[in-house]
Amino acid sequence: MIPDELAREMESHPAVGPVFKRLLLELERADDARSLERVRIDYLGRKGAINALLQDIRNLPAEERREVGRLLNLLKSRLEQELEIRLERIRERELEESLRLQKLDVTLPGRHIPYGTRHLISTIIEQIEDIFLGLGYRVVEGPEVELDYYNFEALNTPEWHPSKSLQDTFYVEVPGGNYRDVLLRTHTSPVQVRVMESTPPPLYVIAPGKAYRHDVPDATHSPIFHQVEGLVVDEDISLGDLKGTLENFARRMFGEDRRVRFRPHFFPFTEPSAEVDVSCNMCGGDGCRVCKWTGWLEILGAGMVDPNVFSYVGYDPERWSGFAFGMGVERIALLKYGVPDIRYFYDNDLRLLRQF
Ligand code: PHE
Repeated sequence: MIPDELAREMESHPAVGPVFKRLLLELERADDARSLERVRIDYLGRKGAINALLQDIRNLPAEERREVGRLLNLLKSRLEQELEIRLERIRERELEESLRLQKLDVTLPGRHIPYGTRHLISTIIEQIEDIFLGLGYRVVEGPEVELDYYNFEALNTPEWHPSKSLQDTFYVEVPGGNYRDVLLRTHTSPVQVRVMESTPPPLYVIAPGKAYRHDVPDATHSPIFHQVEGLVVDEDISLGDLKGTLENFARRMFGEDRRVRFRPHFFPFTEPSAEVDVSCNMCGGDGCRVCKWTGWLEILGAGMVDPNVFSYVGYDPERWSGFAFGMGVERIALLKYGVPDIRYFYDNDLRLLRQF
């Protein structure tokens, strides 16, 4: 800290010597930032040892005052420098220590982050939406817990209809509610009523979502499944428009070589009604387990909106006509990708999910 000669001078000085020797000792012992700070306060502080000596100068004989003053001021500035240097050294040492402790091994392999994939059902719904968005349709949604009114009554479904039975429909008990007023919607058709109720015609909408039926699960049935509902209301809409729209859809969804057929059917809310089948791609139409040996898979129900439904929502049946359809998303997925069993979609087996 101090050149030898000067140090010896200080050491042997009667007034400065004792403080100087004590200081050297304490400096040697201070091995971290805190104890160095202690030394700084004890010696350089306003009430520190060096200041105390400076105060005492006036008690010394006049001829000694100059010399002691010189020594103490030298000591002060030297000590300041020395503390700086030592503090810096300690900081470096602490940094090195912490780098050593937290050493990164850049050759370690990274932690694997598993990532998911989009579920096939979501992908199919998106594809259906894209096809109809391209035709100018809007996407709407409705509640899964539904009122009997929207699921059945306003869809012209009579009280005695078999689908209203406990065998087919999950009813929801509501405290204080009427028996069988609330249910899990059995199809997405109630969304038709809700949209018409709230929007004046013309309408071009699709409504994707879940539906619930009291079915025993098998290769083609699940108590929860997905549908996409379609509804068009405009002036002069004909059965030809419906057929053209669905044929176009089937070709976009399944490819040009897929065959489509319309079978007369009955739905309370459409007249006339049809079931639409697409040729089974699992067996090429020869018959297999998935198509139940018919060569065809039913993918949707459709028809011209029954005028009675228009009356429920306050549309003028004389002026407006329309068609509606409801397709089963799982069935479309089975067909398109040859998944042999609908239950695979809900098992969350990564071996299946990763394929899409
Ligand atoms: N809601 C009918 C079903 O689930 C399908 C359908 C929708 C039929 C629209 C005609 C019109 O079976």
